[in-house]
Parts: sequence; structure tokens; C-alpha cells
Amino acid sequence: MSGTTLFIHDLNAAVSPAGTGPLRGAALGELEVHAPASVAVSGEKILAVGDPKEVLREHPPGPDCVEVDGRGRVALPGLVDCHTHACFLGDRAREFELRAGGASYEELHAAGGGILSTVEATRAGSEAELAAAVKRHLDWMLEHGTTTAEVKSGYGLDRDSELKMLRAIVRAAAEHAVDVSPTFLGAHTVAPEFGSAAEHVEYLVREVLPEAARHASAADIFLERGSFEAPEARRYLEAARERGLALRLHGDQFSERGAVPLAVELGARSVDHLEATGEEGAQLLARSGVAAVLLPACALFLDLPLPPARALIGAGGIVALATDFNPGSAFCESLPLVMNLACTRLKMTPAEALAASTANAAHVLGLGDVGRLAPGYRADVLVLDAPDWRHLAYHLGGDRFAAKVKAGRLLA
Ligand code: NIG
Ligand code: FE
Repeated sequence: MSGTTLFIHDLNAAVSPAGTGPLRGAALGELEVHAPASVAVSGEKILAVGDPKEVLREHPPGPDCVEVDGRGRVALPGLVDCHTHACFLGDRAREFELRAGGASYEELHAAGGGILSTVEATRAGSEAELAAAVKRHLDWMLEHGTTTAEVKSGYGLDRDSELKMLRAIVRAAAEHAVDVSPTFLGAHTVAPEFGSAAEHVEYLVREVLPEAARHASAADIFLERGSFEAPEARRYLEAARERGLALRLHGDQFSERGAVPLAVELGARSVDHLEATGEEGAQLLARSGVAAVLLPACALFLDLPLPPARALIGAGGIVALATDFNPGSAFCESLPLVMNLACTRLKMTPAEALAASTANAAHVLGLGDVGRLAPGYRADVLVLDAPDWRHLAYHLGGDRFAAKVKAGRLLA
């Protein structure tokens, strides 16, 4: 009796990042391509990917097997969005309009708007309202092919509101097909009730982190002028590491102020943004085990300089892509759009953009069995309604899926 529970027949191709683990430097562009291909799934895992006749012979679909027609289509791993702020209430449409009129993101922040206006709206809402917002945002992401997402807290800043956010993220995730990795971003910016950044960090470490660490798998901080500086980031991240959390940093978004050397020293998972990173920082990061998470939708949204993708890849770095989905600096939930920007703006190849949005993004979240179409990996599969896998990045805003499979289950 066959253990095959789902079978995708006769695809033009099945395409996956090659190898195992994170892909560094030139290896980022290496794909494993089976053309033509079929994919056999058993339970939540991929059983086989390969030549249609061979897969059919080795893993024939049994009577209750779900069958998907792959003719004229391609299969890809489900996308992994490793940096989102999908837990928030309210919007920043007025701020968007002000920026269109010439106001800058940093000016709005300094005037008490920006992140703090979303903090006000998020603090005012209930856990149930927040969970509903997260679910709605996860629906949007899944529409664009995201099957695993990180979701950060960070619009609460105080104990009750941060814990409310983390509980809402966990609650929404339990009721949604998208797998969620929660991150504690208590140190997103300094809340107005604290006299200084150092005082706020001390409070977070003592009053919030012990409980937050029970809900989150990583901690993150915004290291930037107007938010937290390197000494505060060190205190916060060392305390988070002691609690067993993986470390992430928002660094070098507007200015270089020590995020990269600190991340390398502390063995962080990633530094994210890097729009302001110079040659030295790029080299240091690329030679380390810390991933560079690039967020080109944010650079586009705020009209910032672009991060040095080619320098990082050329120097052997681990590069991932993410949306940075949030109401202020990147109101964009589409990874295919981000992949298009990676190709057109950052000059990454479509193959590099795919691996950076799947295998390497999974690595940033510490997920070893996600992000590839290969036996033993979690069966998160996209069937793209296009003859060539590159259409995912090439068709700007036109990602069309014939089917999506999440952990072996065909989604409606
Ligand atoms: O990654 N830069 C800091 N945090 C977010 C923006 C959050 C917001 O503006 O609400 C970012 O861009
Ligand atoms: Fe962010």
C-alpha cells in the first residue's frame, strides 16, 4: 500500500534551491531543476520530486490520494517571509500622503508620529481585535504564496501591550494555515513614558522579556538614531540570548551605528535593512554567519538608497529577502513583488531571489526542513499557473497560483 497522500502530476518543472542549509555567495543562485516533474507527498512531508514516470512507479497515488494537475505549470517551494510587522491596528495613510508631499519618515517619527502613532492604535485594541488583524494579514500573505511568516510584536512597547501582541500572534497562528514564527520587538522605539532609551531597555529586560520569551522564538531591536543605540542594543540582546531567544537587529536603515559588528560579535541570526551599510560593513557581515535580510519594498516605499546586495553575495554572504510588511515603511505583503524588486533594483538573478525568499529565509527563522522541494522537507508547495518558474518574479504583481499545498494539505 502506497503512503502517497497527495500527488502533483506532469509539471513542466519542479524548481528548488539546491543543497541543504543556508546558501552563501555564488551558491545562492544554484537551483535543483527537474523538468518535467511530478511531486509525491506523504502526510506533511515531501516523498519524492523527479521524473514523472519514475515518481509514479515508486510512489503511486492510492485510492484516497489528492491529485493535482501540473500540466503546463511549475512547482516551487512555498515562500517564507522572514521579516514582518503583521500585528498592528490602524493605518498610516495620512502619513503616506504627507510623505508624498515631501515630509520624511524620520521627521514624522521625531514629531511623535510614525511608529508611535501605530503604538497608540495598537495599545487601544483588544487581544481578539489584534488576533483578527493578524489573521487578515496572513490571508493576504498566503494569497501571494507565503506559507511561513515571521510576525514581530513592537507596537506595544510596554509590558501589557507587548504581551497582548505576542498572545494575539500565537492565537492567530493556531487558527491559520500559514506557519508563524513570533519575534519579540519590545525595543522597536522608545515609548514616551520613559525618560531615556537606557531606561526603557532596562524595563524591557526586567519586566517584559522573561514572559515574552515564553511566546517568542527571537528578539529584535531597532538600532537607529531616534530609537536605540549600540550599548542599549547590547544589553537587550545579551539578556534575550540568555533567555534562549535567537537575535535579530533592524540595522543600518538610515545610518551606520554599529549594528553589524554587534550582530557578528553576539552571533545574531540576521541584520535586516542595511540600506546605509558601507563597503567595510558589507564585507564584515558577508564573512560572518549572520544573514543579511534585504527589504527592497521598504527602500522603494521610503525612497531610500538600496542595500548592497551584489557586494554581500559577491563577498560570500548569506542573503535573504523579506517584505517588512508594516503600516508605515512597507505596506506590502507580496514576496513575488519583492522578488521582482530584487531582480530589477538589486540586480539579483531570479534564482537568487527565489533562494533568498525560501531556503535562506527559512534559515533566518531557524527552520531546517522548510524552503525546498526535496524529500523530507515540509510539503509546502506552490503550483504556479505559468509555463516557466521565473514568471513568479517576472510578472510584476501578477503572481497566479493554480494550487497551494500547505504541510501536505491542498488549500482551497
Ligand atoms: O522595519 N524601522 C523600523 N521598523 C519598521 C517600520 C515600522 C513602522 O514604521 O511602523 C521597519 O521599517
Ligand atoms: Fe522591520
